Amino acid sequence: MALMSWSDNLSVNIKEIDEQHKKLVGMVNDLHDAMKMGKGNDVTGKILTGLIQYVGTHFATEERLMKTHNYPDFVKHKAEHDNLTKKAIELQKQHQEGKSVLTIELMSFLKDWLSNHIMGRDKAYSPFFNGKGIS
Ligand SMILES: [Fe+2]
Ligand SMILES: [Fe+2]
Repeated sequence: MALMSWSDNLSVNIKEIDEQHKKLVGMVNDLHDAMKMGKGNDVTGKILTGLIQYVGTHFATEERLMKTHNYPDFVKHKAEHDNLTKKAIELQKQHQEGKSVLTIELMSFLKDWLSNHIMGRDKAYSPFFNGKGIS
């Protein structure tokens, strides 16, 4: 069973962003599946690297949109992105070092931050962008 599933309550009502969030949810699930199937660190490490790269792409998309439209909460939102990125890279490093306790910790961290960030900070920008005709 998938770790996370997409549902409409994760939607930020902006098509491009929803597509990216869906892809992120899918990547977290792929990583979870690989770990559950007992794939080695080389396989999970590759998925994790891809996920972190895509997170970077996604954050850049949101930050570009926020900057272009002078979103008032940009600074706080970006700080949360930076924080999450730092933590993800730290966990990736531990993973590469083969620390075995990491699996559960890593998966719950990824799942929680993805859903909490989308449900919190990301959803908060919907009225602002929708009000500018972006959806
Ligand atoms: Fe997002
Ligand atoms: Fe965000």
